[in-house]
Amino acid sequence: MTASHAVHARSLADPQGFWAEQAKRIDWETPFGQVLDNSCPPFTRWFVGGRTNLCHNALDRHQAARAAQPALVWISTETDEQRTYTYAELYDEVNRMAAILQGLGVQKGDRVLIYMPMIPQATFAMLACARIGAIHSVVFGGFASVSLAARIDDAQPRVIVSADAGSRAGKVVPYKPLLDEAIRLSQHKPEKVLLVDRKLADMPRTEGRDEDYAAWRERVAGAQVPCVWLESSEPSYVLYTSGTTGKPKGVQRDTGGYAVALATSMAYIFCGKAGDTMFTASDIGWVVGHSYIVYGPLLAGMTTVMYEGTPIRPDGGILWRIVEQYKVNLMFSAPTAIRVLKKQDPSWLTRYDLSSLRLLFLAGEPLDEPTARWIQEGIGKPVVDNYWQTESGWPIIAIQRGIEALPPKLGSPGVPAYGYDLRIVDENTGKECAPGQKGVVAIDGPLPPGCMSTVWGDDDRFVRTYWSAVPNRLCYSTFDWGVRDEDGYVFILGRTDDVINVAGHRLGTREIEESLSSHPGVAEVAVVGVQDALKGQVAMGFCIARDAARTATPADRLALEGELMKTVEQQLGAVARPARVFFVNVLPKTRSGKLLRRAIQAVAEGRDPGDLTTIEDPTALEQLQSALKG
Ligand code: PRX
Repeated sequence: MTASHAVHARSLADPQGFWAEQAKRIDWETPFGQVLDNSCPPFTRWFVGGRTNLCHNALDRHQAARAAQPALVWISTETDEQRTYTYAELYDEVNRMAAILQGLGVQKGDRVLIYMPMIPQATFAMLACARIGAIHSVVFGGFASVSLAARIDDAQPRVIVSADAGSRAGKVVPYKPLLDEAIRLSQHKPEKVLLVDRKLADMPRTEGRDEDYAAWRERVAGAQVPCVWLESSEPSYVLYTSGTTGKPKGVQRDTGGYAVALATSMAYIFCGKAGDTMFTASDIGWVVGHSYIVYGPLLAGMTTVMYEGTPIRPDGGILWRIVEQYKVNLMFSAPTAIRVLKKQDPSWLTRYDLSSLRLLFLAGEPLDEPTARWIQEGIGKPVVDNYWQTESGWPIIAIQRGIEALPPKLGSPGVPAYGYDLRIVDENTGKECAPGQKGVVAIDGPLPPGCMSTVWGDDDRFVRTYWSAVPNRLCYSTFDWGVRDEDGYVFILGRTDDVINVAGHRLGTREIEESLSSHPGVAEVAVVGVQDALKGQVAMGFCIARDAARTATPADRLALEGELMKTVEQQLGAVARPARVFFVNVLPKTRSGKLLRRAIQAVAEGRDPGDLTTIEDPTALEQLQSALKG
């Protein structure tokens, strides 16, 4: 048995002992009485009775030893700014932000929605919420008003923190008009909106509601706000993610379990130690940003690099220049970013001093072999693929190099991480699959610390969605297909549901369909994910127009396609805009009216759609084919 297998086996045989040891990695104001309460599965409580605070563990407890060490390095190639905050400075900023939020009426348990570009104030706001026991919900800045409104209505925030604008590839993206529109659309209205003015775009303000961050920050100079100690299971945040239905799910995270899980992953998976520098090129609006830009590195006393910009501006060397300049030890990105770099001059990979860099972690979407090989050979550093989800909060499958550098197998993220009783199960019987046999990647409960505790405000949905998908077995479904080999390595084979993954961004096809359907010219629509060499997948829409005259000529079709793309961009954001929208007169459906998405996807990818005995109108597929040909 290898060391990784031994640690994994112990974590499952004696979860109480294993996690009690890991819990020593963080400070507890009140020690926990019970390590695990699983008396009401699938609702699990870790470190029962223990009181702690994420902000205390990220900042306060490092003040004695590392006040002068950089905690947060912010780099923007969009506005040409760089700023370093030491642990003492970050502590000060977060205390001020906590005082501001309290001044705006935020109390323990209140929700604060953060709709921000990648600026330091976003990190201040997250940590400030954690400090005062408020529950943050960060909404990715790439989402637009309808997405945002749905999240406002679900989270019901007392306060929203936002900014005038973000910037993407040199283009200013105003946030405030989208936010105002979202608040107009939502039933729930926040009491206050706190605004950071970057002076990138005009920002109309609503009297009595909108507050200015810079003015408040001066007013609360020197504020010291005590941490609110939370019972371990009290929520730290809600992060929305897409699923099978159009309504996004609020993934609720606890406090103590998350702190312990992240601290443990920093050691066992990311090989990070206090004083190291970690550069996670993600966005704070995604789970990778929550766990490995903000909380994980700071809990471990590391320096974290927050980057506003793309991997190719001002040139294809920017990521490596950051590594050289800030002596980055650990880097975390997504396969798409590497595929983007592959199109650049390869000499960018060797122009900078990368001697500080130990490991490159990649997650969020399948890592294809050519990309893995290209980057590994190009920079001469080990590449660590890791598989996980918004729901888990930290890696489910990885080579856990902090325990042992098991040899990687290209195409596989590795072996199940400690704490996860991972099974590949048959979707019809719930029985475990033999090695080599494809099944659903499932996890037998209890889930380890750090994983979602429930769906925000909807315990039933948590049970129904995640724990009832596999028959005859109470297990958590990841909604991914997978296969395990004889050595226990897991290969991920794509989602079992209607979620697609565009450049590492998780999107629900139903959300996009709902948005397209809201256009008056659309009668029916199907959206599927189609393989793409750069982005992994792209969304493609197939529409039936309400009025056939609107799609009579190629020019008509192009015009309507443009309108539809704009609709999605305005409602959901550019991130969800389909790559193409095609028009047909009939969509492939079963005789009972269910869309045959898999068949549509197969045709769009040029594959054989397989057995279609249930199809209502066999000509539907021919129509798809000719629409695709243009
Ligand atoms: O389908 C899997 C894919 O991304 C999904 C989770 O996306 P998200 O909630 O955005 O969390 C991303 C956290 C890194 C999974 O269900 N996925 C994630 N990582 C991998 C992956 N697919 C293959 N290989 C991976 N390493």
